[in-house]
Amino acid sequence: MEIRFSKRAESFQPNIFNILNEKRAALEESGRKVYNMFVGTPDFPPSQHVIEAVCRASENPENYKYSLGDTDELQNAVIDWYKNRYDVELQRDEILSLAGSQEGFAHIALALCDPSDIVLVPNPGYPVFEAGPFLNDAEIVYYELDENNHYAPALDKIPEETAKKAKMMVVSYPLNPTCTCIERKDYEQIIEFAKKYNIIIVHDNAYSEIEYDGRKGFSFLSIPGAKEVGIEFNSLSKTYNLTGLRISFALGNAQIIQKFKTVRSQFDYGTSFIVQKAAVAALNGPQECVKNQCMEYQKRRDALCGGLSRLGWNVPFSEGTMFVWAPVPEGFTSSDEFCMQLLENTGVLCTPGSAFGSKGEGYVRFALVLPVEQIEEAVRAVGEWL
Ligand SMILES: Cc1ncc(COP(=O)(O)O)c(C=O)c1O
Repeated sequence: MEIRFSKRAESFQPNIFNILNEKRAALEESGRKVYNMFVGTPDFPPSQHVIEAVCRASENPENYKYSLGDTDELQNAVIDWYKNRYDVELQRDEILSLAGSQEGFAHIALALCDPSDIVLVPNPGYPVFEAGPFLNDAEIVYYELDENNHYAPALDKIPEETAKKAKMMVVSYPLNPTCTCIERKDYEQIIEFAKKYNIIIVHDNAYSEIEYDGRKGFSFLSIPGAKEVGIEFNSLSKTYNLTGLRISFALGNAQIIQKFKTVRSQFDYGTSFIVQKAAVAALNGPQECVKNQCMEYQKRRDALCGGLSRLGWNVPFSEGTMFVWAPVPEGFTSSDEFCMQLLENTGVLCTPGSAFGSKGEGYVRFALVLPVEQIEEAVRAVGEWL
């Protein structure tokens, strides 16, 4: 039988990721050292108290049933955490747990957009910002982020006609992949823009706990008016090293959260009780580990950005996120080609900027998922080649 897939499915083709991954496997098999800075999965373990909470919860047979929603205990933990950490007051109907922000982005447009509704998406930006609305048949319109404007949204460059038609806008800082932050006043302008054109803002706050050089991350919801115009996704993946557990939250405007909850209830019976217990332990537990980890990321950033810059490869010091965004050195035609040559010649594996949109071309992204000594080794390997 001939299996014919949807046009949507056919648009996702094997790409440079697969090719680089095959190359990595071949190099490792041949005994070559590979410095894998490709995927943003932290190499740090979760805290022991979180692991213990999972173990305890897994022994209770009741915890294997459908949860059908978030427990009071989980909602309380989120409410307390948002209050203590960001000084944001949340109500229960403003909170919804998700199987990761990736899943949240894949589905949010189902609640907000009809086919062909315009969604404003940053370019460069994290791929699911675009893939989610695309999967839901929305029309993607990019707003370009420029290095010369510190990768902040240039709202005045969005044509009035587009703004009038837009239904939703994705915003995210510290931004993966550019590793830059914006100021509270920038968010005030975004909220003003959203009100003027009736656009729902979906803010992704995956990295508020990984900001450097004394910066303190904050929540979009702490900006006056934010809850009127939108929601925020906040993930426990990077903050607490729980990427595989799949737990994050949609928070903010109660109407949006409740509609999203109804939509999600068509395909999800609630976050596992075991995962909810892990989240409670992480949110209510000691927070020193989060700060210490951020300091460790900063040392890694210094080792990579400082090391490469000393080689003459001018790499900006990231302001936040667990990544480094580096311009492709002169003499290479594309980020794909550079990544392949870097891997073959040095064993260093990073992600081509082209994966983050057309404006990502000309850059590569390194994930800071190796200890300082290995990053230093990787820099030496680059130095011997470049
Ligand atoms: C900006 C951004 N948003 C969302 C995600 C996905 O997070 P989660 O693990 O909660 O799905 C990532 C993961 O790398 C990310 O970088």
